[in-house]
Amino acid sequence: MPRLAYVDGRHVPLADASVSVEDRGFQFADAVYEVCAVANGRLFDWDLHAARLTRNLSALGIAAPLGTAALLVQARRLIAANRAREALLYIQVTRGAGRRDHGFRPDRPTLVMTVRPFDLAGRVGMQAKGVAVASVNDQRWGRCDIKTVGLLPNVLAKASAKAAGGFEAWLVDDAGTVAEGASTNAWIVRGGRLITHPLSARILPGVMRAGVIRLARDLQIGVDERPFTLAEAFAADEAFLTATTAPVIGVVRVDGHTIGDGNPGPVTRKLGEAMWAEIARQTGFRPA
Ligand SMILES: Cc1ncc(COP(=O)(O)O)c(C=O)c1O
Repeated sequence: MPRLAYVDGRHVPLADASVSVEDRGFQFADAVYEVCAVANGRLFDWDLHAARLTRNLSALGIAAPLGTAALLVQARRLIAANRAREALLYIQVTRGAGRRDHGFRPDRPTLVMTVRPFDLAGRVGMQAKGVAVASVNDQRWGRCDIKTVGLLPNVLAKASAKAAGGFEAWLVDDAGTVAEGASTNAWIVRGGRLITHPLSARILPGVMRAGVIRLARDLQIGVDERPFTLAEAFAADEAFLTATTAPVIGVVRVDGHTIGDGNPGPVTRKLGEAMWAEIARQTGFRPA
């Protein structure tokens, strides 16, 4: 796969792709981003990613560098130029470059896109075994619903969960409530019903989260969008996490507590299968 990046209208070899050192994305994390799955060369759930990007740009008062339709054309061109089949499309929009100053003028936004190979089918193995998570104190800012590149607390949380042998960190407040993962949404299952934190400024409205809620409705699985505590998670029948990069992965251990019988549970597996069917429906991709 050639590695070409899109930088403000041009395709450039990834190794040569650059933006100004005075770009506000670099200086202040004054930027938002999206990560979209590419399966069978096609974008999955594009409309939801595009809508979230538009919402986030307007929440921060950053001008959209391209309209949604033009952005899709450019994204598809980049995917084709990279001959990408199973991949992740990364989109970043910053407020642009300018003299370093906290105050900003309405600048010309910077648009960068990259495509990198991603073994989506490899997640099947992870779904079969499940993963462990470790709780970490949530130290993020008050607008976690905006997908900004200011991810330092997430990065540090993931590192500390990894050090504890976890695949993911579950971010917990002082009351013991689990908001979400460092880069995934968090779910438990009790009595056959799904429980996940409601949409609020404390969590990112995940595209996969929305997809699971849709599928659960189709499968007549009840969904309670309410906060749950770490103690509830320890006692849950099942637990799982979701993200574009991790479609319905069972969580089998939380802080060393075994969840259920230590294997991904039946509701989690059912939703995982339904998500692969949805991916196949939209893109034609089926994991071998
Ligand atoms: C903090 C956080 N929560 C949840 C998610 C999952 O979002 P999505 O399903 O849109 O990938 C992400 C994805 O990067 C994230 O960073």
